[in-house]
Amino acid sequence: MRILICDGLHPQGLDILRADPDVEVLAPDQPSAELIREILPECDAMVVRSRTKVTADLLENAPRLKVIGRAGTGVDNIQVQAASARGILVMNTPGANAMAAAEHTMALMLALARHVPQATQSMREGRWDKKRFMGTELYQQTLGIVGLGKIGTIVADRALGFKMNVLAHDPHITPETAAILGTEWVELDKLWSRADFITLHTPLTAETRNLINRDTLSKMKKGVRIINCARGGLIDEEALYEAIVSGHVAGAALDVFAKEPPEGSPLLRLPNVIFTPHLGASSTQAQENVSRAIAMQILDYLKRGIIRNA
Ligand code: NAD
Ligand code: MLT
Repeated sequence: MRILICDGLHPQGLDILRADPDVEVLAPDQPSAELIREILPECDAMVVRSRTKVTADLLENAPRLKVIGRAGTGVDNIQVQAASARGILVMNTPGANAMAAAEHTMALMLALARHVPQATQSMREGRWDKKRFMGTELYQQTLGIVGLGKIGTIVADRALGFKMNVLAHDPHITPETAAILGTEWVELDKLWSRADFITLHTPLTAETRNLINRDTLSKMKKGVRIINCARGGLIDEEALYEAIVSGHVAGAALDVFAKEPPEGSPLLRLPNVIFTPHLGASSTQAQENVSRAIAMQILDYLKRGIIRNA
């Protein structure tokens, strides 16, 4: 069985696959879309993160492919219906990087509140701008969490530790469950109008695309701060840019972008927006977890027909 590793996979997962005598692992370094297209017809499985886009067109020429493994959570870079129509299983590793993404969200929230990246840059430039970087506390501020799943739940717990008031909106979670988690379930409009900080933790679907847009931004409090460590497509970036320039939104912390990397995005020029290059899952522990999980899930399926996540 030949397994193509398209995006970086931690050595722990690679070792599990390579230890199997029935498996040949192809792991080219950062393969181009053209190279993937060339090799895929000879492969039984492919492993991706978010870089590789698995399109219906790519799958047309993959007669041996039985399984696509996503070493991570979001499967929005995979055309799942097209894969299913060809009998190709799509599996991910839910939860395996949730702690990393939740902690990164808290890191972004704190850095945004206290201007940590801007102050670092200012000191590198030789300044001591003590007055310029007045921040806000998280204590007693209201956080609105959209999507109270695995990551949203950890973020809620950490925010409660900071004594924030936590609102949550999730159509698949009941107000009772939200209350058990220490949060107040609210309709979206209430969340927009009451939150001082808003953080997104939903998958990118037709329903959630551009969830933050001109209309929803206009419902938010003046001075709101927005954190997105889920998916770029959840925010209409042009609308966010305008809302920041107008001063309605005080700042944003973005780990993910509609187009990655976001070359030429005007958001990159705004001093009150801070960025990381899709680092939510970039902890050693998370990469060990997702690589081991996806390696074992793929072997279980290819060798024993066992489906542990699809
Ligand atoms: P999850 O499935 O456990 O939680 C997602 C939650 O969103 C669910 O509870 C679901 O009910 C809710 N939801 C769905 N539609 C909604 C809507 N319209 N409004 C409000 N809530 C809605 O997933 P998770 O593990 O918490 O991950 C969340 C997302 O974070 C993933 O889909 C992925 O895109 C992203 N992610 C990003 C990184 C990163 O590196 N930045 C890392 C891990 C995950
Ligand atoms: C995910 O959905 O798991 C994230 O995008 C993390 C990643 O693989 O980069």
